[in-house]
Amino acid sequence: MHIQIITLFPEMFEPVLNSSMMKIARNKKLVSFEYLDLRDFGLGLRKSVDDTPYGGGNGMVFMIEPLVSAIEKAKSSDPDAEVLLPTPRGKKYSQQEANKLSNLKGMILICPHYEGYDERVTSWVDRQYSVGDYVLTGGELPTMVIIDSVVRLIPGVLGGQNSAIDESFQGDNNQVEYPQYTRPENFRGLKVPGVLLSGHHKNIENWRLANKRKV
Ligand code: ADE
Repeated sequence: MHIQIITLFPEMFEPVLNSSMMKIARNKKLVSFEYLDLRDFGLGLRKSVDDTPYGGGNGMVFMIEPLVSAIEKAKSSDPDAEVLLPTPRGKKYSQQEANKLSNLKGMILICPHYEGYDERVTSWVDRQYSVGDYVLTGGELPTMVIIDSVVRLIPGVLGGQNSAIDESFQGDNNQVEYPQYTRPENFRGLKVPGVLLSGHHKNIENWRLANKRKV
């Protein structure tokens, strides 16, 4: 999967996207990243990307021209890529959405900042997602959340065959993963549930099923 990110802050991404599972996915050539600096598409001598909102109000709004120029540049190298826009107004992002996105060959993610963006840009957008009912400073963190959740589902990225299937939210009932324990058996009086030490596979399975719930 090829992922292109349109942002004013490309430096925010590599510490996350070049660590842990994302780094492994890149080394295995299962994913590649490209950053498009929105400033390069800015207007005039000052390479402006934002302007005051029509109708008045506080703050600045991302102008449509730099955004569309950047999207068109990204599309020119990957015409079938889907364009995603993180926004608090979007559809609630979920594991189900991550599963759908993991089948794509290419994604283009736009990271708006400041007070917002010219709404007309959504004519160039395929999907709009909210990562929760709270407001973040910009689209960079939601973009990283979406990328992490998608890339780990690409076949071959995770080690164990069933790692992505076993875990939280992947089952039929949207259940979370059961609690896990490892050595020591007793830490300052906090003991591992006895059934997990019993070696009785059926009982362990039953215990795990019974404990697949949120705290
Ligand atoms: N941009 C700012 N806040 C956001 C959120 N909660 N989800 C997606 N994009 C955002």
